Amino acid sequence: MKKNGYFITFEGPEGSGKSTQIRMLADALLKLGVRCLITREPGGTDFAEKLRALIKNYPGPETIHPETELLLIEAARAQHVAEKILPALAEGKVVLCDRFTDSSSAYQGAARGLGLEAVARLNAFATRGRLPDVTILLDLPPQRGFARTRKRQETQGEFDRFEVEDLEFHRQVRQAFLALAAAEPERFLVADADREQESVHQELLAKLTARQDFLRFQAERIGK
Ligand SMILES: Nc1ncnc2c1ncn2[C@@H]1O[C@H](COP(=O)(O)OP(=O)(O)O)[C@@H](O)[C@H]1O
Ligand SMILES: [Mg+2]
Repeated sequence: MKKNGYFITFEGPEGSGKSTQIRMLADALLKLGVRCLITREPGGTDFAEKLRALIKNYPGPETIHPETELLLIEAARAQHVAEKILPALAEGKVVLCDRFTDSSSAYQGAARGLGLEAVARLNAFATRGRLPDVTILLDLPPQRGFARTRKRQETQGEFDRFEVEDLEFHRQVRQAFLALAAAEPERFLVADADREQESVHQELLAKLTARQDFLRFQAERIGK
């Protein structure tokens, strides 16, 4: 029988708690006997991580055009999907991915103005049409995220091409994420991230493990 894994993506602004919630969910699923592969975008493979550094941290002097940025992100995604995500899913694993196609829609499609349709076409091409089974959106007002990541910025000090964008840019990202979630309520779990991290975690764990498709995945896994 062909194995099929379960693909979970995490979306939301910097500081919304994606990395924190991924770790907490992976720990909780391990206790249920489910091992997870944790990965991230842009990046996730050696080559794609090299593209990530260019995409996020290129300090100038050239302007990186939105089209260039999108194509580089999709190039990194194509490599990541082919090299890491699809093989892990074929082995029946749960994959937890920090950012994925919806970030391209929100950042490049909406906030950078390239349009959702163009991004959707490239997303489909780069992923070979593999959609996430569920997408967890950690919703947070941009200022709250900034307050959480300020310390990280000060200690690491690395120039980030997205973090330097203004409040209006980040407001557009947030609205785009919420609109994507509203358009696909079956795929998205939206959580208010402006709460204590344990309470966000408990809500996500409860909602995920109540999903029919997740229960089916678990039943098939145990049946093998
Ligand atoms: N619910 C929360 N409330 C307060 N602080 C949080 C919460 N979740 C995460 N943090 C803290 O905020 C910072 C950013 O969290 P992180 O998980 O790295 O977010 P992201 O990966 O989305 O950028 C970290 O210092 C983390 O400890
Ligand atoms: Mg993170």
